[in-house]
Amino acid sequence: MHVMAINGSPRKEKSSTYHILAPLLEGMRAAGATTEIVQLGHLQIKPCLGCFLCWVKTPGKCVQQDDMAAVLERFVQADMLVFGTPLYHYNMSGLMKNFIDRTLPSCEPWLVEDPKHPGKSGHPDRYPRDRAMLLVSPCGFPEFDHFAPLVQYFQFFAQKLGWRYLGEILRPAGDSLSEEKFQETFVWYYNLVRQAGEQLIRQGRITPEVQAGLRKDLFPGGPEVFRNEANHYWSETMAKFGLTGKPPGQAG
Ligand SMILES: Cc1cc2nc3c(=O)[nH]c(=O)nc-3n(C[C@H](O)[C@H](O)[C@H](O)COP(=O)(O)O)c2cc1C
Repeated sequence: MHVMAINGSPRKEKSSTYHILAPLLEGMRAAGATTEIVQLGHLQIKPCLGCFLCWVKTPGKCVQQDDMAAVLERFVQADMLVFGTPLYHYNMSGLMKNFIDRTLPSCEPWLVEDPKHPGKSGHPDRYPRDRAMLLVSPCGFPEFDHFAPLVQYFQFFAQKLGWRYLGEILRPAGDSLSEEKFQETFVWYYNLVRQAGEQLIRQGRITPEVQAGLRKDLFPGGPEVFRNEANHYWSETMAKFGLTGKPPGQAG
């Protein structure tokens, strides 16, 4: 079983996304998988030109010369894809969307009826294979509902490609995962992520118990306390740049 994780955060190894992906892949390796991580922020991947030459002139290959060709070759050989992206405007990062656009050569041009969903159309896979995918995403706000459009997208994406959708590891209020000073505090969380990785390889799913643990708040107090602390952080950080500011409607 080979797992390819894609980190769509421009913050690369410093990102919260990476701080979830690293223990996840560690757990997967402990369960016998081989893993690799593609840091999109380190690669030069130009936007898709929309020319469709990858379908009609150079089948399976993009006409642009950049780092995507090598990644795509490995991407289509992976048994499991882990899409790791920070939540940007309730969606995936631009780096991740750009990457997904550039996987177009892996489809064939034909419009066919989807065998698993009669009456629905899709493109055949140029490299058919049993594949599964997982979504990993941290975000800044403290509520899970911010992820709704992202989850809907990836569920639909997996369905259209005929991949097994293994679920999500979503982390609201996830910024602090990338802060050095909190690493000790979050050992319990990383242990659960590691366990999730092992379960995905051994059982093909994350158990409800582990998933419930992964959804626990990183900090006590609820959204209001979180908002106050975040606002305090932003005013302190602005002050370092000589700016003063406070949230709208706040006296003082
Ligand atoms: C351009 C941009 C858009 C963002 N949009 C959202 C958003 O819609 N909802 C949210 O909760 N956080 C949003 N955030 C915050 C990030 O999701 C959050 O900082 C995340 O932890 C970053 O992960 P990373 O360290 O892996 O890049 C946004 C950040 C940026 C830079």
